[in-house]
Amino acid sequence: MDKFVVEGGARLRGEVRCATAKNAVLPLMAATLLTEEPCRLLDVPRLSDVEMMRRILRVLGVESEFDAEGALCTRLVDDAPREAPWELVRKMRASISVLGPLLGKRRTARVSFPGGCVFGHRPIDLHMKGLRAIGAEVEVRGGFVEATAPSLPGGEVFLGGPFGSSVGATQNVLMAAVLAEGTTVIDGAACEPEVTDLCRFLRAMGAEIGGMGSPRLVVRGVARLSGAEHRPIPDRIEAGTFVAAAVLTDGEVTIRNCRPDHLRAALDKAVEMGGEVRRVGEDAVFVRRQRPLAPADIDTHVYPGFPTDMQAQFMVLQTLAHGVSVTTEKIYPDRFMHISELARLGAHVRKEGPSAIVSGVPKLSGAPVMASDLRASAALVLAGLVAEGTTQVHRVYHIDRGYERIEEKFAALGGRILRAKDDDENAAVEAVAAAQKA
Ligand code: EPU
Repeated sequence: MDKFVVEGGARLRGEVRCATAKNAVLPLMAATLLTEEPCRLLDVPRLSDVEMMRRILRVLGVESEFDAEGALCTRLVDDAPREAPWELVRKMRASISVLGPLLGKRRTARVSFPGGCVFGHRPIDLHMKGLRAIGAEVEVRGGFVEATAPSLPGGEVFLGGPFGSSVGATQNVLMAAVLAEGTTVIDGAACEPEVTDLCRFLRAMGAEIGGMGSPRLVVRGVARLSGAEHRPIPDRIEAGTFVAAAVLTDGEVTIRNCRPDHLRAALDKAVEMGGEVRRVGEDAVFVRRQRPLAPADIDTHVYPGFPTDMQAQFMVLQTLAHGVSVTTEKIYPDRFMHISELARLGAHVRKEGPSAIVSGVPKLSGAPVMASDLRASAALVLAGLVAEGTTQVHRVYHIDRGYERIEEKFAALGGRILRAKDDDENAAVEAVAAAQKA
C-alpha cells in the first residue's frame, strides 16, 4: 500500500494542468452501453475508478482501450450481459450508473444494490422512482436492483429529494429515457456540469434532449444511438483543490484546463478567505494569497452552490484562518471523516450535527494520518503541505481513485511530497529531507 510523505512549508508556485473530470467520465463511459458503435472519449485520466468502470463495462460486453493520444476507445463485443455483480459494484458506487443505459438499451438490468459509504447512507430511491416513472418495473431482490421494461413509454418525473436533486439519479433516468419510445420530462433535474456534459455526449450520439443545464430536462426518445467522440469537461474539483492549495500555502499558481464558470462558488470563497483570483483566458485562473487567511462560513449545496466535494479541502483553510468558521453539509450530513485526522495535526474542529465549527489555530504540525475517502485524503495532503514538519498520509489509494498523479503535480509546483511504500518509511523521510535541502 502507498502513502504520501509531505514536508510542510513550501509555497506553491507555477502552473498546473487539471485532468478531465472523473465524475464526468464515469457516467460517459456507462453511456457507451447505449450504442453498438465504437465511442472515443478524449483525454481520459488514468484513475483507479476509471479502471474499475472499464472492468464493469467488460463484464457487460464493452471492451475499451487507451489509444496513443490518451483517448479511451470503447467497442461492443457482446450485448447479452445484463448483470453488474456485487464484487465490482461494492468497490465503486458510481457503478450504479450502468443501470439506466442497460435498461434503456437491453431492456433488462440487474445491478448490485450499492452499500453505504464512509460518509453515510446514500440511498438510490430517486434512481428507482425515475426509472419506474418512465415505464420500467423496478424491484430489489437478493441484493440486486432488477429493472425490466419490455416497453419504455417515457413519462414525467420529479427528481428532487431531501438533499436537493440527485446527480446520479438524473443521469440514470436520462440514459434510459434517450432510448424510450416516448417523451420524458425530468423536473428537479441536477444541474451539475457533469450532467450537462453527459447531455452533450448523448446529443452527439443522436439523442434528443432539451433544457440542458436547467432543472427541467425534456428527452424525446429515439430508436437508436450512434457512436461518438467527446472531450469531457475539466475536473472542477481538482481545480478547486489547487485553488485551496494556492491560497493555503501563500502561493501563486496558474491552474490550466479549468472552467472558471464551473468554479464560481469555490473562487468566491477563496477570495473571501484571503485569496486573489484572476481569470487567464478562457480556460485558466491565476490564484494567490492576497491577505492573511480570514474565517468564512461554508454551506455545501447542489450546483451552482459550494460543492460537497470541496468541503474538506476548504476546511483546511478554515483551520488556519484567524477566527471561527462554520461548515454545514447540506448534501451529506456525515461527511466529516477528515475532522479527527485534522485534529491530529493540531486543528480545532468540533462537529455539531451536520456542521463543523472550526476555530483557527496559528499553525498545524505534521503527524501520521489516515485517509478515509477521496476528498478527505486531498484535504490531508493540503494540510501536510502547510503543516510544520512531516505528515505521512496513509492509504492514498483513496486519492488515486480521483486525482491523477496528484503528488507529481504538487511536486512540480514546489510542494515537498513523495509517494512511498508503507514499509519504506525511513527512505521516504530522508528523500524528502534531501529534496528540501537541495
Ligand atoms: N440521494 C437520495 N436519493 C437518491 C440519490 C441521492 O436521497 O436516490 C441523496 C444523497 O444521499 C445525497 C444527495 O441526494 O444526500 C446527492 O446525491 P447524488 O445522487 O447527487 O450523488 P451521486 O450521484 O451519488 C455524485 C458524485 C459525488 C458527489 C455527488 C454530489 C459521481 C461519481 N459522484 O454522487 O462525488 O459528491 O454527486 O455532488 O459523480 C466524489 O467525487 O468524491 C464524490 C463523492
